[in-house]
Amino acid sequence: MASAAEHLMAGDLVAFPTETVYGLGADATDSQAVARIYQVKGRPSDHPLIVHIASMDRIGDWAREIPEYAIKLGRDFWPGPMTLVLKRSELAKDFITGKQDTVGVRVPDHVIALGLLEAFEKAGGKGIAAPSANRFGHVSPTSATAVVEELGAYLTQRDVVLDGGACEVGVESTIIDCTTDIPRILRPGAISDDMVSQSTGLDIFRTYRFAITDSAGCYLIDKADEIRVSGSLENHYAPLAMVLLCETPAAGQGFIAHENIQTPPGVIRLASPRDDEEFARVLYSALRQADAQGLSEVVVVQPIGVGIAVAIRDRLARAANGR
Ligand code: TXA
Ligand code: MG
Repeated sequence: MASAAEHLMAGDLVAFPTETVYGLGADATDSQAVARIYQVKGRPSDHPLIVHIASMDRIGDWAREIPEYAIKLGRDFWPGPMTLVLKRSELAKDFITGKQDTVGVRVPDHVIALGLLEAFEKAGGKGIAAPSANRFGHVSPTSATAVVEELGAYLTQRDVVLDGGACEVGVESTIIDCTTDIPRILRPGAISDDMVSQSTGLDIFRTYRFAITDSAGCYLIDKADEIRVSGSLENHYAPLAMVLLCETPAAGQGFIAHENIQTPPGVIRLASPRDDEEFARVLYSALRQADAQGLSEVVVVQPIGVGIAVAIRDRLARAANGR
């Protein structure tokens, strides 16, 4: 940890595991190191980065005018799979925020991520900027092997990849915009809309498709409070293989579905999760496996219902690019 933290202090990149996906880390105050993140990812430089901190006590370094409901969320769900978007402090420069007046902050829940953040703090660091450690638009990596496959060709001998095995959650953090009177969820994740409204006691605003259920809790349909204009259906989280939703798989196609759904003859089963949590955990590695096997199409039977299933459907809709 101390050695990896020194690499960060020296301006090198350190890829590290979190409970959601692997991040590609740099010193969040070092403009040159952060510029390398964009280069290595091939990502447009106006896309803001999440700053990772060791504990909620450091939130004041990066943000100001933090609303009370954001403090509640931090107390309830940090360390954890949640990013809060807050008004930025002086420390959060344009090269982190994509020139926006806000900054995304997260305390990850992973022994290696926290160990690295603590060692970095001890060495004088303020926070680690880290997007998911994949090339822009691709599937996020949920193992160190996947990081090396994605980015190995773009990293230098000085950069570091920390191996923490497979990620527990498997899909990216819930992003909550805390700059208005009520929380606006920008990206669904393991911290569900119910958890956010219960923690804050406030109505919430959702910018993604969420599940509508009837009075008995049965899933009816997906709907959004507001569809985000940009990025709502952009091709993202996507493997090379074409992702098809709502189709019956045919011979030669890859197939991802809950365990109780059978595999038709000739179809290549890539994952058979037992529940929605396992679905999230194995989804990205199954999509990577489709590419590794050179499959051109993958059919996915989406999980229905609320909770993490909403996040899974969100990522699949983007991976399928509206198909
Ligand atoms: O689970 C995660 O959040 C992972 C791990 C590594 O922490 N990180 C991650 O980062 O998914 P990234 O960069 O791949 O996705 C972060 C998203 C981007 O879509 C970015 O636009 C959005 O967060 N974001 C970051 N700062 C923001 C801000 N100030 N306002 C609005 N959106 C922001
Ligand atoms: Mg990403």
